[in-house]
Amino acid sequence: MACNTVGCFSLFFQFILLIPLVIFSSLFLPTTTAKGFSIEEATVYDLQLAFRRNQLTSRQLVEFYHKQIQTQNPVLRGVLELNPDALAQADKADHERKANAPGTLPALHGIPILVKDNIATKDKMNTTAGSFALLGSVVPRDAGVVTRLREAGAIILGKATLSEWSHYRSNDAPSGWNGRGGEGKNPYTMDGPCGSSSGSAISVAANLVAVSLGSETDGSILCPSGSNSVVGIKPTVGLTSRAGVVPITPLQDTVGPICRTVSDAALVLETIAGIDVNDKATIKASKYLPRGGYAQFLKKDGLRGKRLGVVRTFYGFGNDTFMHDTFELHLKTIRQKGAVLVDNLEINNIQEIFNDQSEDIAMAYEFKLSLNAYLGDLVASPVRSLADVIAFNKKHPKLEKLKEYGQDLMLIAQKTNGVRELKEAVLNMARLSHNGFEKLMITKKLDAVVVPISFFVSILARGGYPGVTVPAGYEKGAPFGIIFGGLKGSEPKLIEIAYSFEQATLIRKPPPLRKLKV
Ligand SMILES: *[C@@H]1O[C@H](CO)[C@@H](O)[C@H](O)[C@H]1NC(C)=O
Ligand SMILES: *[C@@H]1O[C@H](CO)[C@@H](O)[C@H](O)[C@H]1NC(C)=O
Repeated sequence: MACNTVGCFSLFFQFILLIPLVIFSSLFLPTTTAKGFSIEEATVYDLQLAFRRNQLTSRQLVEFYHKQIQTQNPVLRGVLELNPDALAQADKADHERKANAPGTLPALHGIPILVKDNIATKDKMNTTAGSFALLGSVVPRDAGVVTRLREAGAIILGKATLSEWSHYRSNDAPSGWNGRGGEGKNPYTMDGPCGSSSGSAISVAANLVAVSLGSETDGSILCPSGSNSVVGIKPTVGLTSRAGVVPITPLQDTVGPICRTVSDAALVLETIAGIDVNDKATIKASKYLPRGGYAQFLKKDGLRGKRLGVVRTFYGFGNDTFMHDTFELHLKTIRQKGAVLVDNLEINNIQEIFNDQSEDIAMAYEFKLSLNAYLGDLVASPVRSLADVIAFNKKHPKLEKLKEYGQDLMLIAQKTNGVRELKEAVLNMARLSHNGFEKLMITKKLDAVVVPISFFVSILARGGYPGVTVPAGYEKGAPFGIIFGGLKGSEPKLIEIAYSFEQATLIRKPPPLRKLKV
């Protein structure tokens, strides 16, 4: 989940200069294929076009990313495992492309994707949430989202690193750290990447892969995406299946795309969204699925006529002056693109929300229940319950750096018991969301709220609402994002707004070219 509020944002806004082992220099990797097509920063549309024009094959693409990972991953640590079958999947995709008429294959066909290591793959890879405790566990089946990726012909390139257990182990552990993979690095700053979907964001930012999946409970897609200058979509809870995903809480967990562009993210969302009988919430949320998918909302003039609320409570992080000035410029652009800004709004119960403990309480209860259910469903596993995981961590302090990082969140969850307190907390969260964000959206007739990336992620998290982040600038080289958030099922509007903003600003640039010394 990452940003257990304060921890994440202090990390997020530590603008520390580059450490000396990074030497700027020209990139030593070949970035083009023999036929002159440049893979770096290519979108899924670009890649599909290059496939069709015989400028590129999926095999070449996988080989390129393998090289990128080989040279950069020892420092960046965005990738935890490589799929030994990726090249075979690429060859299959290349073969299928030849056998089918152009334009008849799904958008992600032949495109390499990394999935966060809490997302189960029933193949030669491990699914461990970054923990040694799950190494050697055998999952019963692919996660629901992975089934959809495979059906679409995507190539599962590997598993992305993350904050261990999606940051539901300890508040002390650095965001982006896990026992198996170590500490991930933001490729722009060589500082913390923000988590918990750290590896997914690092890897697309540094062109180690085309697109990726992350998951969010509270900030875990939006924060690392903003920190690494990429686009993240945190879908409405239930829009995408959580079946086969190592959980924190079904009330808030959601799987979503982390990509370099809004168009890539929309295509990935379109591929993974939908009903999965193994996750009942997807049935209820299926009413939000637009007929014809999400790509139709990639409109350059998507800001025209939209009503966007500006909630200034969510200012006040990082270098205030600089970020405020940048944000004001963005508001000006948004207005010029035809949106109506409704400024100086407030969520009137914001103090009550941030003083309220319901989220922490519900999460602790739900973590124990849902993790025990996940572990119980495994075909084989060294651990079968949260109690086993805690015992494992105690027994292997060296392996897990237990002394440094502890497991306080797990210990709190293990102590939970019964349902009365959980039920109260759930009702309280629903009431606060209803009287707060939802009321603001409805009374002011807003299509979305726009804010700098901030504690606002937690408002979206608690209510199960969607959000999209788009690169918004760099402060002393450190990227930051802007967020558009809306009511449940508002992904079509959010994609229109985000795409229009992205096309008007085009702020993302790849990380500085540098030679990485291990
Ligand atoms: C899965 O974990 C086992 C045990 O450490 C390891 O031998 C194997 O290489 C891992 N699989 C992949 C694809 O990395
Ligand atoms: C904030 O950013 C501005 C613009 O980059 C810079 O001039 C100023 O020195 C920064 N202030 C601090 C306290 O870092």
